[in-house]
Amino acid sequence: VRKEGRAISTNAAAERFGAIAKNYATSEVHRSSPTMTMLHELLGPVAGASLCDVACGAGHLGRSFLAEDPREVVFVDPAEQMLSLIDASAMAADSRVAVRTVRAVAERLPLPDASFDVVMTRLAAHHFTDIPAAVAEMVRLLRPAGRLAIIDLEGPPDPELARFNHEIELLHDPTHGRSVSRKEWITLLQGAGINVPVARGGLTEAPSGVPVGRWCEITAVGEEAAAAIRVRLTEAGPEVRGQLGIRERGGEYLIPVRTVLVVGVKPLGRI
Ligand SMILES: C[S@@+](CC[C@H](N)C(=O)[O-])C[C@H]1O[C@@H](n2cnc3c(N)ncnc32)[C@H](O)[C@@H]1O
Repeated sequence: VRKEGRAISTNAAAERFGAIAKNYATSEVHRSSPTMTMLHELLGPVAGASLCDVACGAGHLGRSFLAEDPREVVFVDPAEQMLSLIDASAMAADSRVAVRTVRAVAERLPLPDASFDVVMTRLAAHHFTDIPAAVAEMVRLLRPAGRLAIIDLEGPPDPELARFNHEIELLHDPTHGRSVSRKEWITLLQGAGINVPVARGGLTEAPSGVPVGRWCEITAVGEEAAAAIRVRLTEAGPEVRGQLGIRERGGEYLIPVRTVLVVGVKPLGRI
């Protein structure tokens, strides 16, 4: 399986996430964020709509829409332990929304063509084995005029900075694949045949910053990785840190978890 030059099976990513699923259920970065709020505003009312949360992890994004009375929410993830954190029947009973979980990778979604009004994926595309294939699959699931919403780690457009950022991300999470830039996302979505009315970069999941130690606790990479990240950030200097939005407080670096939010719309005439 192709993964930006490294061979890694999709099971490896799922297994790693399965083992640390609970960290994501309780993670303050994943539970809520300014981009989640922004996405709700951008999409507007979703009452009666069919929603699909791809690479849902502990399900924070899909769950955040339940109170808005969609018709159904389908949660998709390859990690069984992640899906087991989503109590579909309790959610359905509480909300009267049809809720189900599907175990699958984004690159092969076992769901019918044109079956959703909104397909969304958050903080996960950087793990996908084949991003264009995943985008094609997510677009396939959309009804005409359906919307594809992607929130993910933003790749810096400058190649040198992107290389450094990638090094830090890999230390933080060995299953990190690639952070895509805002411009690249526009190209990817347009390449899949959908219009892109919204593409916002320079966003953050954690405006006050996540201390490096806590950031590494979520991914369970240990204090050694956190120490290596601190060394790299110190060596990189204040200008590079500033370009990545990384601040320092009380001898610890604060990671903003920079993101991009892109919304694509499937043309009316296309199924
Ligand atoms: C950081 S977690 C998800 C965060 C979640 N979307 C949220 O907003 O809280 C990343 C998820 O991507 C899933 N994943 C990894 N590779 C995947 C792939 N190729 N297709 C779909 N999901 C994948 C992992 O199992 C994991 O649950």
